[in-house]
Amino acid sequence: MQATVFFKNLWDDYVKLAPQAEAIQHLFSTTYACPIQNDHVAFRTFARSPISIEKLQPLLAMVGYQPYDEYHFAEKKLFAKSYAHTDPEQPLVFLSELNWWDLHDDCQDIIGRILQQIPDDTAQHPDIFWSSTHWPKISWQDYLLLESSSEYAAWLSAHGLHANHFTVSINALPKLANITEIVKLLHDNNFALNVAGGEIKGTKADLLMQASTLAPEIVVDFADASHPIPGCYYEFAERLPDNQGNLFRGFVPASANKIFESTDRNQKR
Ligand code: NI
Repeated sequence: MQATVFFKNLWDDYVKLAPQAEAIQHLFSTTYACPIQNDHVAFRTFARSPISIEKLQPLLAMVGYQPYDEYHFAEKKLFAKSYAHTDPEQPLVFLSELNWWDLHDDCQDIIGRILQQIPDDTAQHPDIFWSSTHWPKISWQDYLLLESSSEYAAWLSAHGLHANHFTVSINALPKLANITEIVKLLHDNNFALNVAGGEIKGTKADLLMQASTLAPEIVVDFADASHPIPGCYYEFAERLPDNQGNLFRGFVPASANKIFESTDRNQKR
């Protein structure tokens, strides 16, 4: 599958869970009079499952992506890998997965029931990346229980596979644009930002500075009733060149750790 087709399909699915994304894209493209390019697109999944990173990686290869780097988030019980395309104009891809066996027993039970429903041969085609849930709807009570120990687990169990966020490349905007200006533009237009770890995560020394919106709540059907919960968010990334003059293409774990909290229901919207 061509990368352009892959990302078009992903975006069309993503905007249903990120109702603000098209408005922000429009705001940027009119402010800077240029098309918007993506820095990276990120996904969430379950480790040791038919949809684990190991199972998804060959499907990314079908789109032209190869592994680039690896990351561990001990506090959030996550492992992640980044992927780069053979065409450097294509965005990076960031896959994270939940080490669910490190959660409390009651959370492990809920996730164990979810994973039993996923056929072993589920990962066959790149369209899995926007295929939503492969299990029956969870109950609201189970959602709340998961959320109390892992907000990531709750989000993933309710939504399944989608682009969790797209990320605007600030470097691809005209020269005057920088992360401080982008944050001000978002404030001026009343978009709520994720403040965990500060609005701007990372410093020039990190070679990557990031900000993100707080995922707006969307109504999701649970087994017993419908409830509003955080959907998907939009991220903004500015990269700096390293000593050799090459733009940094990695991720900064301390920053990514806080970006995950963009779907935290406890942050004020
Ligand atoms: Ni990201």
